Formats: sequence, C-alpha cells, structure tokens
Amino acid sequence: MDFPSELIRFLTSATRIAVLTGAGVSQESGLRTFRDAQIGFWAQYKPEDLASPEAFARDPKLVWDWYAWRREAVKGVRPNAGHYALVEMESKTPEFTLITQNVDGLHRFAGSKNVLELHGNIQRVRCADCGTFTEIWGDDSESVPTCTVCGGLLRPDVVWFGESLPRGELESAVLAARSCQVFFSIGTSGLVQPAAALAHAARNNGSVIVEVNAEPTPLTPKVDFALHGKSGEILPKLVKAMWG
Ligand code: OAD
Repeated sequence: MDFPSELIRFLTSATRIAVLTGAGVSQESGLRTFRDAQIGFWAQYKPEDLASPEAFARDPKLVWDWYAWRREAVKGVRPNAGHYALVEMESKTPEFTLITQNVDGLHRFAGSKNVLELHGNIQRVRCADCGTFTEIWGDDSESVPTCTVCGGLLRPDVVWFGESLPRGELESAVLAARSCQVFFSIGTSGLVQPAAALAHAARNNGSVIVEVNAEPTPLTPKVDFALHGKSGEILPKLVKAMWG
C-alpha cells in the first residue's frame, strides 16, 4: 500500500500522537466486533439489551452468562499485527496515548504502555453493590456468583449503556485528544459517545485526523486521511513506511 507522502511527513514530524481504537482492531485476533458479536444462542438479543444495568436487574444470570462467554473467547486469543504496530508506534513517539473502547485487554497484552481503557476490562470482576474487586469466584450453572464481603451479585468491570465512563480515564483521553498533533481513529464505528467525540475534539484543536477502518464510517467525511482496509495489515505497513 502506498501512503500519501503528506501523511508520512505529518507522522514522522509528530511528537504527540493519540489513538482511539474499537472492536475492529481485535477482529483479526478472532474476536467479533461489538455490533457483530451475536451468534448462536445470543443472536436473539441486541448487545444493548445485555449490556445495561436494567438488563442485569431484570435477568442477572443472562447478563453474567453473556460476559462469561465473551470472557472465555478473549482468553483464547492473542494480539494481532495491528496491536503490535501500535506498540512500535508508541516506542517511537515521545507522547503517545492509546485510548481504547475495547474491554479485551489485548493492547496491554501486546505491550502498549500508556493505555486508557474507557469501557473497562472484561477480565476484572467486581461486586455490583459494594464495588469490591475479586479474582476468584465460583461458577455454578444455576446462579450468579456473589461477593464474599457483602453478598451482592458479581458483575464484569465494564461500562454498560447508561453508565458513566471512569472519570480519570475520560479526562486523560480528552486531554490527549485536545493536545495531540495526529489523532488516529482505528476500527471503530464511531457510534458510541463520548468516545466518538474525541476525534472531533482533536480536529477542533487543529490535529490531523487519520482513520483506519475496513469500511467508511460517519467520521470518514471529516478526516484528513482515510485508510480503508484491515488494521492488522495497514498499521504494520504504515509503521514500516515511517520508521523502516
Ligand atoms: P463496532 O462493532 O461498532 O464497530 C467496529 C468497527 O470496526 C466497524 O466500523 C468495522 O467496519 C470496523 N472493522 C471491522 N473489522 C476491522 C478490521 N479488521 N480492521 C479495521 N476495522 C475493522 O465496535 P466499536 O466501535 O468498538 O461499548 O463499538 C464501540 C462501543 O459500542 C463498544 O465499546 C461497546 C459498544 O456499545 C460498550 O459496551 C459501552
């Protein structure tokens, strides 16, 4: 793939880069994207009907089982070439922030260091009532495991629809978006706020916006460079074009 020389020039001179990733970056690791995550038994539910406090209140076992199924899927996969290209980009860039909406932990697994997990991490589990984190829980097929401190139901430490994002992470992400010279939006449909607003915040502050996505998105008309294809193929080539 030939990249526009202007893009390479912007990238090699940038000292502050921010990257926002979504489910598409993990697609080549074998994980389904968020809006594509329903197969088999789960096909009868919309993700929004499983990832909300209301859904958990209505049917905690259904929600727990959906996350247990996804947690198992995550355990069996490895980062792909796109994740590793971002590790290399971080090592060459003085100020680099990787903001992710993914809960799979694959960026850290690959070796990325300055990672902001806006939507939590599926491997962490906490009490829905008192918030105590736990790493061990019994899994019987009848009921949702409970907290050893207060007896409340356990839930994944992820952000559900209608819940607030972790404040520190969101503030750092906004700061990175507002102060970067280049902002990448990679493998995200850009449909979910407030993450989707980060690209606009970067643009309003004069940052060059680069999109890497398998398909055009609502953000595409607003970006400076749209690179269409798989992130696991485009990102390694881009890093090679920049730093050899
Ligand atoms: P989506 O499933 O909405 O979008 C995935 C995007 O990845 C789409 O735009 C695809 O075109 C693109 N894509 C697929 N495969 C790709 C590949 N190999 N390389 C590059 N792009 C590829 O996932 P997100 O945008 O991450 O939040 O969804 C955002 C949030 O919506 C999720 O974090 C989740 C959900 O609501 C919460 O649960 C709070």
